[in-house]
Amino acid sequence: MVVEEYERLVPKSDSEIRSALEKYPYPRGIILPGDSDVETVEQLFSNKQLAELALLKHLIFTIGEGKIRAQLLLMFSGLLNRINLTYHTNTYGGGDSGVMRYYRYRIAPNPTISDTLHYFGVRYKSIISAKKELAPLINESNLDTFLAYQGTATDLDQITDESVDYVYTDPPYGAKIQYLDLSTMWNAWLDLPVSDFDRQQEIIEGGRLEKTREEYSALMAQSIRELYRVLKYDRWMSFVFADKNPAYWHTIVETAEKAGFEYMGAVPQSNSTRSFKKVQHPSTVLSGQLIINFRKARSPRTIMKVDLGEDATDLILETAEGIIAENDGATIEEINGDLIIKGIELGFLDLLTKKYDDLSPLLDAYFDLDDETQKYHMPQNKKFKSAIPVDLRLRYFLLSFMKRQHQQGINPKFDDIVQSIMPLLKNGITPEDQTILNVLSVWARRTPDGRWRLRDEGQIRLDGF
Ligand SMILES: C[S@@+](CC[C@H](N)C(=O)[O-])C[C@H]1O[C@@H](n2cnc3c(N)ncnc32)[C@H](O)[C@@H]1O
Repeated sequence: MVVEEYERLVPKSDSEIRSALEKYPYPRGIILPGDSDVETVEQLFSNKQLAELALLKHLIFTIGEGKIRAQLLLMFSGLLNRINLTYHTNTYGGGDSGVMRYYRYRIAPNPTISDTLHYFGVRYKSIISAKKELAPLINESNLDTFLAYQGTATDLDQITDESVDYVYTDPPYGAKIQYLDLSTMWNAWLDLPVSDFDRQQEIIEGGRLEKTREEYSALMAQSIRELYRVLKYDRWMSFVFADKNPAYWHTIVETAEKAGFEYMGAVPQSNSTRSFKKVQHPSTVLSGQLIINFRKARSPRTIMKVDLGEDATDLILETAEGIIAENDGATIEEINGDLIIKGIELGFLDLLTKKYDDLSPLLDAYFDLDDETQKYHMPQNKKFKSAIPVDLRLRYFLLSFMKRQHQQGINPKFDDIVQSIMPLLKNGITPEDQTILNVLSVWARRTPDGRWRLRDEGQIRLDGF
């Protein structure tokens, strides 16, 4: 019915466009973020686009009701990304709006003008297929208990203490994307007000309020404390994060530990496609994400720190070399992901933070980059000479391996341990089994069935070092 009415009423001449613009409401005078090419939301559209969208919205509100209206508005919201002067097609046959591609309202030099009704139909098909995908997962019991709130993660006042079984959260990555500012066009068309309070609570570095990194961290910390409060004991929180800058990781891990969470491990999750974030910030955003898991434990173990001295460079190179050797070449994302996980687990993230915002210059200096595969390799005929003393390297890789095993509930045999860490140590002096055993017994104890198990922190023998 919306489509029929649209086809009947759609303006066909300049004068019909003018009268449609007088008749149907559309956003007027709403100011865009400062780095936009134009000042207000309506300037992002041609008069024809504006009139067509205004008519469509008018029909959705007059014809649609309840859930149908909400679904039509969802289609309309998706359509907005395509029907505006920032949208352009690329040489690969796809297309992007300014917001999705450049993170700002950039008017395209040659905007692609698409047919409004056709793309409204495309949105319809997308929503139907999403519904089909979700349908098998929806049943009466989860429909009855499902609740959606709009609010700030810094104050989950609608959720009672210890009532949540699992938290999966995908928070903003540092200074990368100005989500609230970039949603101005959508909020304007969908009549969603953005209050000063919303802006104050936005977890962001920069943005319209020009927040500092400290403000970002404080808001993030507040939301982690709230997540801790609502989670039941012995339940997990998974944190998705894709920033390469270890400073942000450091904040998250430290804040989560302070709130009472126990770190349970991190896993890389690679993306099959390059994200918009990655396209925009190739050197600071990981193409894959890391998912970092915490548990709300009654007596949480904190991450054991290894004293690595003040210079992390050798360790970074060592880690890079390890992953290059393991995979026969590694991309910067793979190296960085591994490094962040090791940094978290061994407590040297703060050192990384101080020294390396971007690893590329260091990796470029020590390794060969294959332009085609974008993988780093060991330089030809050159053996990397590590400056890290053998006991430190041993301690580092041993602890890293044992922690991973511990998280997986595995008590490895001594032979398995040696087999796993030897390839990582291959470039230095290879330690004797007895040396490995000595280091191992500091961090781990032998189980009655002859395997090795990581000690609880209080039981770590300090005489080893
Ligand atoms: C990495 S994005 C998550 C994207 C989401 N997973 C998706 O696929 O659309 C981070 C989101 O956190 C939101 N955000 C920022 N501050 C917030 C706060 N105080 N409470 C809740 N969400 C916030 C941002 O607006 C942004 O939408």
